[in-house]
Amino acid sequence: MGEETKVPRHIAIILDGNGRWAKQRRMPRGYGHIIGCQNLEHMCNVIKDRGVKYLTVYAFSTENWKRSRDEVEGLLKLFRQYLKRCMRSAKKNKMRVKIIGDPSAFPQDIQDSIRLLEDCSKDYDQMFFQIAMNYGGRDEILRGVTRMLEDAREGRLPEDGFDDGKVTEELFERYLDTAGIPDPDLLIRTSGEQRLSNYLLWQLAYTEFCFVDVPWPDFHEEELEKAIEQYNKRDRRYGGVKEE
Ligand code: IPE
Ligand code: IPE
Ligand code: MG
Repeated sequence: MGEETKVPRHIAIILDGNGRWAKQRRMPRGYGHIIGCQNLEHMCNVIKDRGVKYLTVYAFSTENWKRSRDEVEGLLKLFRQYLKRCMRSAKKNKMRVKIIGDPSAFPQDIQDSIRLLEDCSKDYDQMFFQIAMNYGGRDEILRGVTRMLEDAREGRLPEDGFDDGKVTEELFERYLDTAGIPDPDLLIRTSGEQRLSNYLLWQLAYTEFCFVDVPWPDFHEEELEKAIEQYNKRDRRYGGVKEE
């Protein structure tokens, strides 16, 4: 033991397995989403109390529109309720909330709730909570490139955004939905799948990955501690060599 546990500054989570969790209980998939959503509220508090500054969760991907109409409708209903409750927890926890992804595909009332939530929490800094909704890593990169090209056409790109004629990482990152947010230190995906499903493709370049078998509705304090413990055993190198 001896050494103190390092708490990751930024944890990203792929909240997966709600449907399978419900199926195991012979319940409809939507029930899994309801309990998963309750667990998100709970775990957001737990993660804040653990001293993590940034939390980014994957709630709905650009590909999730392919699900049945019923399931998508159920998720939209849940988002409506959740965004309102999130406003209260943002105030209580002095937490800044940001939605990453393309909100323009959502019904207007959800877009309004998103704007309100982001607006009312914009001055808080005790925790930074990002919710990925209609998010896809490729979509984010393409939207960013499109905006960068617009700025280039209008002559708005800063000179210091180039190194020897090449766009710098710093300039490009300003065009991502996560601009200003440090890259995740730890990625957790629940429910056993070992893939990224189009999550934070640019930002996860040097992140430690932790795949856990429990489905999201069963991911509680104990599983979080195990993931942090695993993270502490990793030897992060960033391409360098380990010091003797
Ligand atoms: C994750 O759970 C939540 C969303 C994608 C909205 P799933 O719905 O993917 O659950 P499984 O993977 O089918 O069990
Ligand atoms: C990724 O999970 C998206 C979210 C958790 C919101 P999916 O369950 O949609 O991913 P695939 O389809 O298994 O890759
Ligand atoms: Mg899934």
